[in-house]
Amino acid sequence: MAHQEPKGPDVYQENFEPTSYLDYYKMNQDPIGDEVLHFLLKHYNATFKPGGLEGKLLINIGSGPTIYQFLSACESFQEIIATDYTDKNLQELEKWLKKMPGVFDWSPVVKYVCELEGNRLPAPPPQACRHALRHLRTLLRPGGHLSGSFKTTFFMVGDKRFRLCP
Ligand SMILES: C[S@@+](CC[C@H](N)C(=O)[O-])C[C@H]1O[C@@H](n2cnc3c(N)ncnc32)[C@H](O)[C@@H]1O
Repeated sequence: MAHQEPKGPDVYQENFEPTSYLDYYKMNQDPIGDEVLHFLLKHYNATFKPGGLEGKLLINIGSGPTIYQFLSACESFQEIIATDYTDKNLQELEKWLKKMPGVFDWSPVVKYVCELEGNRLPAPPPQACRHALRHLRTLLRPGGHLSGSFKTTFFMVGDKRFRLCP
């Protein structure tokens, strides 16, 4: 089946639908989805385990409407800054911060992460929008780290396909 791939400079602002994207983070609905999410959560759990990556400030670029990526980090960093490009994603994060009605329910994900805390796994990086990533690296303080899905080339949100670094 051919999927629509929106194009243009404002592709995320105009097309990225946070509520559709959040479907990926609904646990116990689809075994493959659960497997991917478990993989991500285990990765973060291993990265931010005690004695692992820790620091004062963690800046997450392109946080989207999600907070799962911060759950294991919040014990290891004093401050976490979530950033995104689209208004709708930032509104979704604000809804979560303010516990507003209709906010996405992260509790099954939080529960899974809490269960992982009893146990504890390792992590990889990559190549160019690599140019942009290289630039991001120059913004890090000495000893700072950059973490992300560097090997992913595209992902689907509903029937729309979004490219990451080709
Ligand atoms: C695949 S989503 C990732 C969301 C979340 N980090 C996660 O792990 O599920 C990619 C996000 O990057 C954001 N984004 C795209 N271009 C960006 C840019 N130039 N600066 C900051 N964020 C950007 C999009 O708005 C989108 O929310």
